[in-house]
Amino acid sequence: MKRCTRCSSTALLAALCMTVPMSGHAQAQPSTLTIDAGAARAKSSPTLYGLMTEEINYSYDGGLYGELLRNRTFRSSWSGVEHWTLSQQGDARASMTPDQATGPSAALPTSVKLSVASVSPGAGNAAGIANEGYWGIAVRPHTTYQASFYAKAAKPGSTVTVALVSDDTGKAVAEQTVPGVGSDWQKYSTTLQTGELVTSERYHFVLSVAEPGTYWFGLASLFPPTYKGRVGGNRIDLMEKLAAMHPTFLRMPGGNYLEGDHIAERFDWKKTIGPMVDRPTHQGPWSYRSSDGMGLLEFLEWCEDLGIQPVLAVYGGYSLQQEHVEPGAALAPYVQDALDEIEYVTGAATTRWGAERAKDGHPKPFTVHYVEVGNEDNFDKSGSYDKRYAQFYDAIKAQYPLLSIIATTAVKGHAMDVVDDHYYKTAQEFFDDVHHYDKTDRDGTKIFVGEWATREGLPTPNFGAALGDAAWMTGMERNSDVIVLSSYAPLFTNINPGGLQWDTDLIGYDAMRSYGSPSYYAQVLFAQHHGDEILQSAFADGAEPLRVFQSVTRDSRSGTLYLKLVNANTTAQSVHLDLHGAKQVGTTGHMYMLSAPSTAATNTITEPTRIVPAEHDVQGLGASFELVLSPLSINVLEVPSSR
Ligand code: AHR
Repeated sequence: MKRCTRCSSTALLAALCMTVPMSGHAQAQPSTLTIDAGAARAKSSPTLYGLMTEEINYSYDGGLYGELLRNRTFRSSWSGVEHWTLSQQGDARASMTPDQATGPSAALPTSVKLSVASVSPGAGNAAGIANEGYWGIAVRPHTTYQASFYAKAAKPGSTVTVALVSDDTGKAVAEQTVPGVGSDWQKYSTTLQTGELVTSERYHFVLSVAEPGTYWFGLASLFPPTYKGRVGGNRIDLMEKLAAMHPTFLRMPGGNYLEGDHIAERFDWKKTIGPMVDRPTHQGPWSYRSSDGMGLLEFLEWCEDLGIQPVLAVYGGYSLQQEHVEPGAALAPYVQDALDEIEYVTGAATTRWGAERAKDGHPKPFTVHYVEVGNEDNFDKSGSYDKRYAQFYDAIKAQYPLLSIIATTAVKGHAMDVVDDHYYKTAQEFFDDVHHYDKTDRDGTKIFVGEWATREGLPTPNFGAALGDAAWMTGMERNSDVIVLSSYAPLFTNINPGGLQWDTDLIGYDAMRSYGSPSYYAQVLFAQHHGDEILQSAFADGAEPLRVFQSVTRDSRSGTLYLKLVNANTTAQSVHLDLHGAKQVGTTGHMYMLSAPSTAATNTITEPTRIVPAEHDVQGLGASFELVLSPLSINVLEVPSSR
């Protein structure tokens, strides 16, 4: 019999002692899960778990991308220059207007004009423009912020003050003066250093002057410290959360974001590289404009920072409002764009586009194995995808024969290396579909489950969704010989009002804080404990317990078995495990468990760790043992073994 290390109870109670509420009851007759630990059934894909994101729910701007200023390019609408306000301190009198006639570059031809009618010399008198950030600007003590702006002044030699100001006190908590602003557009950079202060997002950014005159500002920027200190890089807390997911790839840049509503609004990668001042920004399909700070190279550097590979999605000639490019001559320039893009990413610095990447600061090529042509082309009512895919496929393979080309929907009349399947379901629908790939032809087209999620919970999934996700993941793991890649979507949401366009997103955040949903922790557990071999595991025919799901993988080097067992019932479930074929099975294992009192239970920005994995040793394991799964629980049991 097994003994729990914490309470010394017997093995049957090992899991119960940790989590089972008093009301939980094990069923009378345990079901037997038979595991063949002799020969592995198949190799599991080493890239099964990855990431998928796009610019949705303020995922990059106002999310992962570290920039703190909102509308840093001073775009204006009927309501004025959005997210910027006039700041008049003391006796200053000024006005602020969009100026369509001048801007810092051809890509950014407009700016904001600050006209200061009067301001007396003396402390406290200043006129300027203030940015509110993305639902505030997070400011922390003893922190260095990198600030920059483009400016020109009617009177050369002007001084601009750059400051971080508290919303509550109106006082600057960090300030620098930038003298010598000339009459031609130029970039000015400085650092803002904070001291002791109240950590919060209740701060704003101000560019101000203390002399009457006319001033223009364009492309301003404010960055906090970033992950791995990358200049213009990513938010640290969010990158740490991604790293903990043990991803192996990033599908980028979308999603619908790749396609755009219209062809002209696609992710036009050539307009997203090089200095920020040369990036025109573009309208995304999720109701807001992208700064394109997260451009092609930034996506790749994000991969580099996590040590993962990009799965590069190239625009395939279809945009969401039923616009498509005819295959043939009309599509040729788009195919060339994709070839150029692959060269920018993977080419030596001596190639035309590799040289461009080197000029952008990254001489070393990136390694790519997968290129996806388009996104969800099953929605293209023109039926043009078969031919569009074929044209891309043939051109890419001619130059890059080793690349695997992913189709976004099944294609007729042409080879496909991989096909991308998407699933957005309820937990029950996933429970019902866990055997989806069990009968798939092992020699057919490989599968990329490029988007999947249980859509229950708002803004982030609740525990019921985590159960649906975990059940689905057991099915993907059992079939990870044909499923070569998988990625949950969407990954991120800014939880502020107006921040979300799509319900149920894995990780939530505001300007200051972030949290992982129960589904996030389910993925962390599954990806962290995943072997390279799939073992045959099954409940006896007709004896599969309702709402209990399983998969078993093994690490071929250490022999460790990873048993994933999901109990979506509100009662405890006993499972008898029969392990055949192992030379030796250790007696002590380690259990990781995620559980909650109800399916509605969840994590929130204010209670971020209500549902997180717990772990404990389980003793008394062997070739045959019994486990009690807590009600509503996702369990990963590590069992040492040798063959
Ligand atoms: O993940 C949200 C959207 O769902 C993606 O942009 C799209 O590919 C899918 O329809």
